[in-house]
This record gives sequence, structure tokens and C-alpha cells, in this order.
Amino acid sequence: MFLSWSQVHGALTHFPVALLITAVVFDIGSLRSRHKERQDAWRTVSFWMLAGAVVMAVPSLLSGWITGLTVFPGKARAPAIFDWHWKSALATSALTAIVLWWRVRSRDRLSGKSRLACTLLMTAAAGVVSFTGHLGGTLVFGDESASLAESVGGQEVINTAAKPAEQPIQKPATKPPAVDAKLVQLIQAGRKLYDENGCANCHRIAGKGATTAPDLTGTGTRHPSLEWQIAHIKNPRAVVPKSTMPAYDALSEQELKALGAYMVSLRQGR
Ligand code: HEC
Repeated sequence: MFLSWSQVHGALTHFPVALLITAVVFDIGSLRSRHKERQDAWRTVSFWMLAGAVVMAVPSLLSGWITGLTVFPGKARAPAIFDWHWKSALATSALTAIVLWWRVRSRDRLSGKSRLACTLLMTAAAGVVSFTGHLGGTLVFGDESASLAESVGGQEVINTAAKPAEQPIQKPATKPPAVDAKLVQLIQAGRKLYDENGCANCHRIAGKGATTAPDLTGTGTRHPSLEWQIAHIKNPRAVVPKSTMPAYDALSEQELKALGAYMVSLRQGR
């Protein structure tokens, strides 16, 4: 794969949005125009833009749906914002399709109140689609405060209350630590869970994986506390309020511990 599904979705999804907004602009232009010919011309443009929007909504929804499946597999619970993004995308697509169907049925000769209702519905759809796009953007790029937190080295600047104390579970070793077979097993189980739960769809470790979320190569140095790691994986927003990472609260205690131990083991500069 050269492109991830989220990249395919990102590339496709602007077409229906732009087409819908253009359709609204031409429709309003047609309403405002006094010349019959210009009215018809603008209305025709608006009609075909709207048809294009409905056609292009199909691959956008499909690629978005597949992105959701690949990014939140296994026991990942997608953040609420993802649900909103998906629902408002469905709502706009449905609304746009209904308006198109209405216009097709009347051979695009609606007038009076129906005509106005059509324009209002299209405008509403364009409004919701902008909101949808905003949510999608937040999903991919995070919001400003999240990137701010990232820019100060992944240290959470905002929250203090819900955050478990960051106490290193390993003191700097003065003598080489004894190899703990149980810990090694736990870390290996964690690595497997990391693969199974699609963490690499967002994260990167030692150059492998995606880059939409922080690189985890040194997360064990940044967050050496096993409690912190577990609490964060279980419910990221309990620790990092604006986090867009899915909650993995369906994982068992043991699985969370394994994943947490794997995270803690990811020290930079080893
Ligand atoms: C949909 C994308 C996504 C998925 C999937 C995802 N994460 Fe995250 N993760 C994020 C984002 C965004 C952040 C930054 C905000 C935060 O700290 O919660 C983050 C932060 C982290 C951090 C803190 C990084 C640091 O050093 O500051 C860890 C550790 C982490 N994730 C582990 C995991 C694990 C383990 C999984 C799989 C079980 C996983 N993530 C799945 C998006 C994701």
C-alpha cells in the first residue's frame, strides 16, 4: 500500500464538499438574478454541481468508513468526535441526495416555496458538511492545545487533577538490572497487542508505523510510570483531556498491563 485509507479519504473528501458549496452559491445566484436566461444558466450549473456532490459523496463515505475500520480495529473505542464526524457526514449526504432527487423529479423546475425550501436545505447541508470537515480535521491534526502539548515535548501542560503521579517504576540502575523473565514476557505480549489493536495506524515506533500521532519511540522516557500508561491507554481523555486517541477500555487488566509495560520499555537512546 502506498497510500493509507485515511490519505485516500483525505484526498477524495474535498470534492463533494466543494461541489456542494459551489452548488449553493450558484443556486442563490440564480434566485437573485433578474434575467431569465441567467437564472436558468446558474440553476443548471447548480444542478450539475449538486449531482457531482452526490456522486462524489459515495467514495468519500466508503473510504471514510474503511478508514474507521482500519484505524479503530479490535477493542479500540473511537472517540466521540469520530462518531460525530461519521454521523454528520451521513446526514449531509442523505440531505444532499434528497434535494437532488427532488430537483430531478421536478425536472429542476421547482418554483415558489419549494424552490426556496430546496435552497435552504442545500445551505443547511453545506453548513453541516463544513462542521463535518472541521471534525475530520480535528481527528487528523488534533486541536491547537494538543499540538501545543506536543510541541513542549509531549508533556501534558493542561491537566493536573486526573493524572496519576509520574513516578518512574525503575530507578536509574546502578548495577545492570537482572533480566526478569516475567517482565520480558509481559512486554512481548504487549507488543503483540500493539499490533492487534491497530496502534500503528496512528503511531510510529523506531520508524515503523503512521505519523498522525506522537512517535512512541521514546514514550517510556517521557512517561515512565506504568500507572500513567495504563490509565492513558484505557481512557486517554482522563489523562490528556483533548486527546483524540481511542479509548481501549474493553481490554482486560492483564492486556492493559502488558501494553503499558511495552510502552514503558520504549526508552529513547537505548
Ligand atoms: C486514532 C489514532 C490513535 C490510535 C489508534 C492510537 N493512538 Fe495513541 N495517541 C494518539 C494521539 C492523538 C495521541 C496524543 C494525545 C494523547 O497523548 O493522548 C496519542 C498518545 C499516545 C501515547 C503518549 C505518547 C507520548 O509519549 O506522549 C501513548 C503511549 C499511546 N498513544 C499509546 C497507544 C497505544 C498503545 C495504542 C494502541 C492500543 C494507541 N496509542 C492507539 C492517537 C492514537
